Amino acid sequence: MRAFLAVEPSGEAREALLLEVRSLSSQGRWLRPVGEDQLHLTLRFFADIPEGSSDEIREALSSAGLRAFTTRLAGIGAFPDWRRPRVIWQDLSPEGWDTLHRGVDDALAGIGLGRDERFSPHITLARVKMPGAPADVEAVRRIPLAGTGFPVEELLFKKSVLTPQGARHTTLWKLPLQKGAIHSCR
Ligand code: 2AM
Repeated sequence: MRAFLAVEPSGEAREALLLEVRSLSSQGRWLRPVGEDQLHLTLRFFADIPEGSSDEIREALSSAGLRAFTTRLAGIGAFPDWRRPRVIWQDLSPEGWDTLHRGVDDALAGIGLGRDERFSPHITLARVKMPGAPADVEAVRRIPLAGTGFPVEELLFKKSVLTPQGARHTTLWKLPLQKGAIHSCR
C-alpha cells in the first residue's frame, strides 16, 4: 500500500490556500494545481507498506505524546528553485514542525520504519507540467498571500492509489494531538 501521514490546513488558512490554488489555476496550462480536496502537508511518505502496518503505526504514534501547536503560512516556494520550478508550494513557519517530526520519526523508528532526514514542511499547491515562460513564473512568485495560520491538532493516515486521472487519497484514520499545558502527575 502507498500511504502517507498528513496534516490538513483548516479554517481561514485553508480558504487562503484555496484562493492561491485558484489563482494558480488561472496561470495557464503549464501548471497542474492540486485538487482542492487534496491540500495537505506530508509528515511521512510510505512508498509501499503492508496494509496491516496502518494499525501498528497508529498505536506507535498514539503513545508518542505528540503535541498540538499553531503554524503560520509563510511565502510561496518552488522546488528545486524558481529558475526551473517543478513543484510550487506553500511554505510554513518552522516552529513546532521539527518537534512534531522528530516525535513521529522516533515513534516510526521504534517499529522498524526508519527515519526521514529530508523533511521540510510545505503544502504542495501545483506541479509544473511543462517549463513556464520566465514572466509566467514571476507572476506565480508574486501571488499575494494572506498572513494567516491554522492549528495543527490531528494527524491523518491516508492511503494513496495512483490512477491515470491522478492520485486518489482516502483517509484511513485520524489521530488527535495532545492539547494544553503539560501537567506532571505525582
Ligand atoms: P509532495 O506534496 O511534496 O509531492 C502523497 O503523494 C504525498 O506524499 C504528497 O504530499 C507528496 O509530497 C508525498 N510524496 C509522494 N511521493 C513521495 C516520495 N517519493 N518521497 C517523499 N514524499 C513523497
